[in-house]
Amino acid sequence: MNNRRLRGENMLTDAGRAEWAGRNAQASALATSPYKSDFPLLARKPELAFLDSAATAQRPKVVLEAQKSFYETMNANALRGLYELSVQATEAIQAARAHVASFLGLDGKKDARDIVFCRNASEALNMVAGSYAPTVLGPGDEVCITVMEHHSNLVPWQQACRAAGAKLVYMYPDDEGVIGEEEMRAKIGPRTKIVSAVHVSNVLGVENDVALMARIAHEFGAVMVVDGAQSVPHFPVDLTEIECDFFAFSAHKVYGPMGIGVLWGRHELLDAMPPFLTGGEMIESVTEQGATWAPVPEKFEAGTQDAAGIFALDAALTYVENVGFDAMMARERALVALCMRRLAELDFVRLIGPSDPAEHHGVVSFNVCTVHPHDVASILDMDGVAIRAGHHCAQPLLAYLGIDSCCRASLAFYNDSRDIDRLVEGLKHVWAMFHG
Ligand code: ALA
Repeated sequence: MNNRRLRGENMLTDAGRAEWAGRNAQASALATSPYKSDFPLLARKPELAFLDSAATAQRPKVVLEAQKSFYETMNANALRGLYELSVQATEAIQAARAHVASFLGLDGKKDARDIVFCRNASEALNMVAGSYAPTVLGPGDEVCITVMEHHSNLVPWQQACRAAGAKLVYMYPDDEGVIGEEEMRAKIGPRTKIVSAVHVSNVLGVENDVALMARIAHEFGAVMVVDGAQSVPHFPVDLTEIECDFFAFSAHKVYGPMGIGVLWGRHELLDAMPPFLTGGEMIESVTEQGATWAPVPEKFEAGTQDAAGIFALDAALTYVENVGFDAMMARERALVALCMRRLAELDFVRLIGPSDPAEHHGVVSFNVCTVHPHDVASILDMDGVAIRAGHHCAQPLLAYLGIDSCCRASLAFYNDSRDIDRLVEGLKHVWAMFHG
């Protein structure tokens, strides 16, 4: 398997250079961010170059205010009380469900019942692997995933396969990070019961063709699960086009609060699945020796929901819609292209991932020759530049690339070219400290 370019040994093509040059013309428009003032933390810390939005995004003021206003104006336990405050809290959750459904390209009225709130994408994916998988997996069956999965969409499948005596099969990308149809068809087949793939890799930044994977999975009667944690913040996701069967994402990566995750599933699948967690509000009735389950989605929402967080997620989606994906995508693409071009000019930096910046959704991974990524990140931190370094919870991908760890600068629409200048200056500082 040739992955030299992916791991940063052969990274520039003429087409890539030409595109970067073209995009560089837009760089002056990126010099200052009109959006940082929406984000209290960024406004308060102008000296910070925050380049770790793939780990968690900053939250705009409207989201923080929504969370606070829930507690100040409608705090009560949703779904339980018959009094006005509790009804308001319930309505806030149901309105958010409808908003999430329409945000994912679904029918806000009809499909809201299939939006399950949980803690994060990891929990959502665990729900599918823990509740759905045991109903279909048996010895000799296969679950097919990609080697670029975040551990959240990998370890749960290892566990599910181990429990069922099933086999975990991997799809691998080519030299440009693409998992093509040939590779999909080589791995998805009559034994496959579940295909699960990350929509956008948190290390390479590439988008997988999950719609094609879903079509192939369905040819063999398998279901398609998509981890959308890194796609939902960067471009519009339309589940009616992807035609998957389950889709998961986390609120905190799309400018919402931490602690809220979303699982969407096809109604008939969710309806047939056993609950994942049991307890309060997920039941229809309970006797001393047994219980029956509430309908979807409550069946999967045991215990008190973080209604304030869900209300704040609703506000985050409104914020994203108001900024608009067109504006966000144009800005992020230009920033990523600029970042890659500036890093490629440093002869001690090796870029990781596809050579075409358009294939990087918000993520630019790299290594500094002979310097451990943890040292790079620590020195950059002294210069007020926040990046992530390590294995990025994607150890099988890094092993496939032949590296143990790497640095990752992840960009959001609120960044500006000064953040990238700071990164470049910081990296020169790193190099000087080790080799000056
Ligand atoms: N999944 C997050 C990341 O990639 C935490 O950094």
